Amino acid sequence: MESQQAQRKNEHLSLAEKDYQLNHQHDFFNDVQLIPNALPELAVADVDCAIQLAGIKLDWPFYIEAMTGGSKQTGKVNQQLGKIANDKHLAIATGSMSIIFKERDAASSFLTLREADPHGVVLANLGAHATPAQAQQAVDLIDADALEIHVNAAQELVMPEGARDFHWLDNITRIVDALTVPVIVKEVGFGMSRHSIEQLLQAGVSWINISGRGGTNFARIENRRNHELDLSDLDNWGLTTPETLLEAQKTAAQVVASGGITSPLDVVKAGVLGAQAVGVAGFFLHQLITAGPEKLATVIDQWQAELPRLLTLLGCQKFHDLKQVDYVLHQQLWEYAQQRRL
Ligand code: FNR
Repeated sequence: MESQQAQRKNEHLSLAEKDYQLNHQHDFFNDVQLIPNALPELAVADVDCAIQLAGIKLDWPFYIEAMTGGSKQTGKVNQQLGKIANDKHLAIATGSMSIIFKERDAASSFLTLREADPHGVVLANLGAHATPAQAQQAVDLIDADALEIHVNAAQELVMPEGARDFHWLDNITRIVDALTVPVIVKEVGFGMSRHSIEQLLQAGVSWINISGRGGTNFARIENRRNHELDLSDLDNWGLTTPETLLEAQKTAAQVVASGGITSPLDVVKAGVLGAQAVGVAGFFLHQLITAGPEKLATVIDQWQAELPRLLTLLGCQKFHDLKQVDYVLHQQLWEYAQQRRL
């Protein structure tokens, strides 16, 4: 019999899939229109999709974002995701590893990922309450190339067993100072305002994953899991990914995007709005759960074939060049940008 925390990790997978099926219809990136380039003066063969994430070279600008680990079932999913990351040369993040400090057996469910992807770029993941020593321990366990620290106040507040105290900034600074690898601070699907981004920059964080609304929604998921208190008020909480990308513009942050990315065009639009790299969680999980690892691998093949073509169409030799592409914001997104003076 697995612990309550391990069972929660299993439930997250099935509830995230249910959340995807019920809510994936709307793509907030539809409000971002790219201005085409009829004369790209470029060949597809000239395009190089490689990027730098926190000083680490990645062959592709999108990666498999933090999802799971902590139980037997999730260890198997990590093994499958790790193999795909390895085969397709994608970076990959583990789900939160905090369970390894409570349960001796939990470590193996993260090691499956590293064993399947022995030489790839792997990001460890912990909550913002972890001590610097725990952060280093998590990194060392899987020989991680960087650490993601997630900030997830909205999710915690919906969980009966969740945190209620969110004094995080000083601890984040301590982790950044102590660690031997780069630290990326990430949201989990509610986005970050310019103010929050500035606070993180002040705290010494330079890589920030603004993870916005539009895909997996952990307020909805945790609300389904517990019936103690109905917090469905938070079902639409937070900033959409395009909104939070606009918030990050003109800050000094090195921006990573995630939240509702379901196509190569979304990856490109995130790059146009300023993202240096793009994480994908719920959509890849959906492919894996409903159609299996071979199907997910085929989808990634398609993305890797399409991305260089989209960059060519926009006259961009590198992903980084997307920042020069002109765009128009439609409807609500334009109103948002106006009112926020972004
Ligand atoms: C997540 N996410 C997540 N994030 C994190 O930092 N630590 C974690 O442990 C988890 N766990 C987790 C489990 C599952 C099943 C999913 C689908 C997602 C959040 C994830 O990394 C991402 O920020 C959001 O899901 C938004 O991206 P998508 O899902 O809309 O692509």
